Amino acid sequence: MAPLSNIATRAVETLIHPYTNLAAFRETGPVVIERGKGVWLYSTDGKAYLEGMAGLWCTSLGYGNEELVEAAAAQMRKVAYTHLYTGKSHDAAIELAERLKEMAPVPISKVFFCNSGSEANDTQIKLIWYMNNALGRPKKKKIVSRQKAFHGVGIGSGSLSGLSANHVDFDLPIAGIVHASAPHYYRLAREGESEEDFATRLAQELEEIIIKEGPDTVAAFIAEPLMGAGGVIPPPRTYFEKIMAVCDKYDLYVISDEVICGFGRLGTMFGCEKFNFRPHGMSVAKALSSAYLPIAGVLISEAMYQTMLTESTKLGTFGHGFTYSGHPVAAAVANKTLEIYKRDRILDQIGARIPRFEARVKKLADHPIIGDARSVGLVAGFELAADKKTKRQFDPKKAVGARAVKFAEEEGLIVRPLAGDIVAVCPPFVISMQEIDELFDRLDRAFDKTLDWAKREQLLSA
Ligand SMILES: Cc1ncc(COP(=O)(O)O)c(C=O)c1O
Repeated sequence: MAPLSNIATRAVETLIHPYTNLAAFRETGPVVIERGKGVWLYSTDGKAYLEGMAGLWCTSLGYGNEELVEAAAAQMRKVAYTHLYTGKSHDAAIELAERLKEMAPVPISKVFFCNSGSEANDTQIKLIWYMNNALGRPKKKKIVSRQKAFHGVGIGSGSLSGLSANHVDFDLPIAGIVHASAPHYYRLAREGESEEDFATRLAQELEEIIIKEGPDTVAAFIAEPLMGAGGVIPPPRTYFEKIMAVCDKYDLYVISDEVICGFGRLGTMFGCEKFNFRPHGMSVAKALSSAYLPIAGVLISEAMYQTMLTESTKLGTFGHGFTYSGHPVAAAVANKTLEIYKRDRILDQIGARIPRFEARVKKLADHPIIGDARSVGLVAGFELAADKKTKRQFDPKKAVGARAVKFAEEEGLIVRPLAGDIVAVCPPFVISMQEIDELFDRLDRAFDKTLDWAKREQLLSA
């Protein structure tokens, strides 16, 4: 292994890097990114990378967008910081809440701002508890999430997540969070089971969970419209209609976690619209500001707001909020981002790119190392398999997905490995047709290299 560069050594010796094998990292070090323009990133050693993951599913407008830079600078000049506590407000947050209410696909009464998807979902949990206390049903507090879900890494939001890396040895999940099965058709459907039948079975399972836990103890259900970090998993047909019927029957508050799917990723403004999913509340972040600054929102129904009024009247205050809730600079950047989406008809732009993106995903489905290739809108997942026919998985210890991502990096392409040897692709919305082809040409070559390597390692079925 070549010795680390000076800056890589400094990174290893000073930072804890999230989602990293900290011991292996001491040997490999990081790729240090220096600058970006459009869908391209450049590392300190001068290499260009096509950013196939929009950062962490978030830099929707790509890098170097001067309008966003200007929006931040202008707000900083006007007033760099002011808050929303105890009788203060400001126009950037007011305008942003108005925009979100107008855009939301379901009736939204109010918006609570925070800084990350994790904080948004932690807040959702607290509001559900607060609401049911106000309603005089203090036992109705459990929340149903799903295996493979990703809702963040806070103590509450991390508990909602259904991925073992976020739980094991962090002593999560906390009590009161229940995980239903993932809607992972490729892996979990029975032999010959249709998507509709699989959805019916999952809705039945949800009902069984609620009955087993006690309907008077189950308060809410949370779901990403398409699961992102859990493996780019779209729901089977009719899933949300059937799940919502069960939630209605047992009076569950339903939340759509739109942190990845929101603002056009799936070809609709919000992911829930794509799948006939009508939640009561939503969490948004990431593409809300094209990730130029951290900001997230909790979108609250009128019914929930009424209970918050009751509680804060009883207690004298609504005792929740962050120093940076509705930070004016982040809010100004988010306003500009939403303005650009509207002005530049971002849904039309995304819609024009989807056929090419889908065609290239479909073509890769034939690759010998790909078990399942799936996409919705401008997000795709490639599930690698040791045997295409039997769907046999690779030994997780061989980290085949991570290996494929390394080969992609050699090819100058950034994609992301997810648990289960799934490779995710989620480019900025502004990627050009030619860049889509470039992305998939590079990915194709990375999968070829992965296949050759897997053959050499004798990991494939004969
Ligand atoms: C669906 C979803 N919810 C919540 C989160 C957590 O967001 P954050 O990393 O900003 O806390 C993520 C992050 O990827 C996510 O994908």
